[in-house]
Amino acid sequence: MSLLITGGTGYIGSHTVVELLKQNQSVIIVDNLVNSSIKVLDRIQTITGKTVTFIKADICDAKAMDAIFNEHKISAVVHFAGLKAVGESNEIPLTYYHNNVSGTITLLQIMAKHHVKSLVFSSSATVYGEDNQSPLDESMPTSATNPYGMTKLMIENILFDLAKSDPQWSIVCLRYFNPIGAHESGLIGENPHGIPNNLLPYVAQVAIGRLEQLQVFGDDYDTHDGTGVRDYIHVVDLALGHVQALAKLPQLTGCHAINLGTGNGTSVLEIVEKFEEISGKHIAYTIVSRRAGDLASVYAKADLAKSLLNWQAQRDLHTMIADTWRWQSQNPKGY
Ligand code: NAD
Ligand code: UD1
Repeated sequence: MSLLITGGTGYIGSHTVVELLKQNQSVIIVDNLVNSSIKVLDRIQTITGKTVTFIKADICDAKAMDAIFNEHKISAVVHFAGLKAVGESNEIPLTYYHNNVSGTITLLQIMAKHHVKSLVFSSSATVYGEDNQSPLDESMPTSATNPYGMTKLMIENILFDLAKSDPQWSIVCLRYFNPIGAHESGLIGENPHGIPNNLLPYVAQVAIGRLEQLQVFGDDYDTHDGTGVRDYIHVVDLALGHVQALAKLPQLTGCHAINLGTGNGTSVLEIVEKFEEISGKHIAYTIVSRRAGDLASVYAKADLAKSLLNWQAQRDLHTMIADTWRWQSQNPKGY
């Protein structure tokens, strides 16, 4: 039996595939490479010494997905495939709803047809919306402020309804906080196209000299230094959260939303300072106005993952930034 990993050549997917291969799991990746490189496969093989089956296909393509389930014995699916840029989702919402929501429905229909009813889904802390106070816990009300966030919320709701309708489904929606870092080998990491939207890839590109200076979006928030506070989590810890979720799925019937965060908050200026210390590079920055839609402080209550999945983040901020820097300096232009 194999695990099907949609979006497995992407940032979080590739790190999860490495951890699953290390545990001797048989893995099949399906990805249309819209936001990832085929070179990831060689890197995964170098790290693990194992080969992984790769199928280039779109999750929206029901025929192609059906063929995969006909040809392979799949025990469970880890579903990373999706578009994830908040700003872009405001510009092309239909593309986001089609790819993320319709694509997931297609995947679920094919899974149901083949009696594969175990799923781990990539959700996001963005489903907590703007109205909750951190630490954010899974019982809080959910909402969305942009099409990307809405796709995550809609998919979660679909999954809860699906599990209610049929008790054979076991589903875990993992709500990621802010994934950063890279594999310790420096061989795989985050590889954004164009100018990065997220803080860590931006800072890393300033450090390597690809970008001139960071714009810090606001220093007048109600936080200890006025800059935004987030719950950064090492991508390998996140990957291990998926390994644990898969292990616990047989005991977890129904649908469960679970935070994957550290429970700690770090400000933008603390990230800049730590990056300078670890890389030995100066990070030029300028303070600009707040970015629309940003919140002052977002961090997790991480207890449910501990009790339900027996999982807890292990890697500290130093490791997260050292690994980001190793990846960036070994691969200045990405893959
Ligand atoms: P990523 O873009 O690196 O990986 C997503 C992968 O899915 C890519 O390889 C892309 O080519 C593939 N893909 C997209 N649409 C597809 C389709 N229709 N068919 C097949 N493949 C498709 O992103 P990531 O950072 O690894 O994120 C993985 C998942 O986690 C996404 O669903 C994302 O929304 C979610 N998430 C990410 C973050 C984050 O900060 N990175 C935070 C919360 C949630
Ligand atoms: C953003 C998305 C969120 C998504 C998450 C992970 C928005 C409004 N939110 O969250 O939906 O789930 O990424 O992909 O886009 N910052 C700067 N300068 C920069 C970039 C960021 O100061 O150039 C600050 C931000 O204001 C924030 C912190 O750094 O305080 C982290 O930003 P980012 O990495 O974009 O993550 P989020 O804003 O948490």
